[in-house]
Parts: sequence; C-alpha cells; structure tokens
Amino acid sequence: VDARPIPAIRWEGGPEGRLLLLDQTKLPSKLEVLEIRDVESLARAIRELAVRGAPAIGVAAAYGGVLALRESPPSPRERLEEALDLLAASRPTAVNLFHALSRLRRRAAALPGEDPATLAAALLDEARTLHREDEDLCASLGRHGATLLEDGMTVLTHCNTGRLATAGVGTALACILTAHREGKRLLVYADETRPLLQGARLTLFELAEAGIEARLLVDGAGPGLLLAGEIQAVFVGADRIAANGDTANKVGTLPLALAASRAGVPFYVVAPSTTLDPSLPDGRSIPIEERDGDEVTSLLGDRVPPGTRARNPAFDVTPADLITALVTEHGICRSPDRDGIKALLDSGR
Ligand code: MRU
Repeated sequence: VDARPIPAIRWEGGPEGRLLLLDQTKLPSKLEVLEIRDVESLARAIRELAVRGAPAIGVAAAYGGVLALRESPPSPRERLEEALDLLAASRPTAVNLFHALSRLRRRAAALPGEDPATLAAALLDEARTLHREDEDLCASLGRHGATLLEDGMTVLTHCNTGRLATAGVGTALACILTAHREGKRLLVYADETRPLLQGARLTLFELAEAGIEARLLVDGAGPGLLLAGEIQAVFVGADRIAANGDTANKVGTLPLALAASRAGVPFYVVAPSTTLDPSLPDGRSIPIEERDGDEVTSLLGDRVPPGTRARNPAFDVTPADLITALVTEHGICRSPDRDGIKALLDSGR
C-alpha cells in the first residue's frame, strides 16, 4: 500500500501525457483525481477551485501550454496564444498565474519554427521546471518562517496555505509544519474561511495529516481571541503583493491584521517572490475577484430567506503597515514597504 499523500498536481508521461489534479472541491470526504487532457478542462478546474492557492494555480496553468499544442489547428502558435488567454481569464487575483503564463510565452518565443513536437517538449520542460522551483521555494519559506515560531505557541492561520495550495510543503502552513518537524509544540487555530471553507476542509485535513494539534474557529472569532491575548502569532499566505507591500489574500485576512496590530501580536505574510507584483504601485490596483453570490447563499440553503442576494469578494487587501514581516525564499523582510520590496526583488536578480 502506498501511504504517501496524493499530490495536488502531477504530470504523468511525456508531452502526450496527462495532468492529474486532486479535486479539492471534494476534500476532505473524497479523494478524487481529475484527469485533465485539454486546456478548457484546465481553465474550468482553476475557475471552480479544484486546484487553488496562488502558487498551485500558477504551476497547474503552466501545464496548459503542452495541452494546448495537441489541439491544433489553427497553427500551434495561435492555439497557444488562445490557450494562454483562456487560462489568464480563469482567476484574476493570484499573480502567480500571470507569471507562469509569461514564462510559457517567453519560452515559446525563444524557439524558432512551428514544429508542434519541439514546442510541446519545451513547454513541458518549462512547466516541470516551474513545478520543481515552487517545491524549492516552499522549502525555503518553511525554513525561514519556522524561526519565528517558538515551542508552546498558539498560532492562527487563515484559508489553506499548505501542500494543497502549492507544489511543495506550502507557504504560511510550511512554517508551522517545519517548526513542528523541528520538535516545537504548537496549537494551531484554523479559520473556517467562508464561504468555500478552505480552512475547515483543507487546512484541518493537512494539520491532521501532520499530527499537529488544531482547533477550528469561525471566521469572526479570531480578532476577539487576539485581543484577549490567546494567540501569539498570525501566519497567512498571499495572492498578490503590490510594490508598496500591500497584500491581497483570502477574504477575512484584513480583520485579523487589524486586530493583531491593535493587540501587538505579530502578523506574518509568507509568500514566494512569484507572488510579488512590482508593476502595481499599491493595493488599490490589485484586481479583486468577485465570485457569484450563489456560492454564499447555496451554502446556507433554506437558512436564508428565499431570494437573498449575496456579495462575494474572494479576497481583501491588508495595508503593508499592518504586516510585521514578509517571509520569502530570500529570508525575513521586517519592513515590507516600498524599499523592503525593492530590496527583495534586487536580491533575487
Ligand atoms: O481562493 P483560493 O483558495 O485560491 O485562495 C487561496 C488563498 O487565499 C491563499 O491564502 C493564498 O493563495 C496563499 S497560499 C499558498
């Protein structure tokens, strides 16, 4: 029996192979794997959150190039452009998606000729490289972030930022998992993360896999527990970080940052440099995904009056001055403002 957990994203075979995605909409009750053989199904899987989490969206989309090329006519390059446009329209906030698509575009542009087999081999290689890179980035995030955790701490996290949200061990959750592996005893409060319950369904699943002590919180509970002095640190991921450090993350992150700041509790954002978007001056220019209100009302069923309409912004933006430190693969940036972000980007060049 293979006891290893099913990875969130896997490519099986060569350029004619298939993409296997663990269907996260079914977790934790069902372990179902989606077989993705064309770009339309990949875009749907991203839109419907079968694969989600900023780094995982980028890695999954990277395999879209090789899938696109088996679908000619029209010409392979036109088909590739169409596919990249379709994937770019799948979700707007996580910038990792757009970084991945730019890499495919650059790799294809660097190749001469129109031979689909040559293009497909190169684009599969690019996707595999990006996949491996994300794994390495996660390991570094975990190592750096674990130094911020001490034995006996109670920490709060929001949404899901572990192996299901990335191609590696995770971002914010990687810090917690790494500290746990180093022998630090932690209690983790996981926000349920309305409306799609990434915290309740996915983070608690991952914490149980790792054998880490955890409690589920309703989203509204965190700020009160922070002000009551019951939590020593908040760890969250990010979907896009603007040039001045303003950070978009799953809706419900901002109230935690406000409360942590008021309570004097450190609020850490953990993200690879692939989540930075220096082209945007500040958080006001980050595109915030607005999902269908039915996602909220259908969860509540007949517990809301018939005809109830909901707003459903999927992310909020935390101003940089509420963030104690930004953990990236380059280390811990204790002043994640315009200069701090610039220094981070320069260290990666
Ligand atoms: O809508 P989702 O589930 O894709 O949102 C995910 C988050 O907001 C995560 O916190 C973020 O992507 C950082 S994860 C590694």
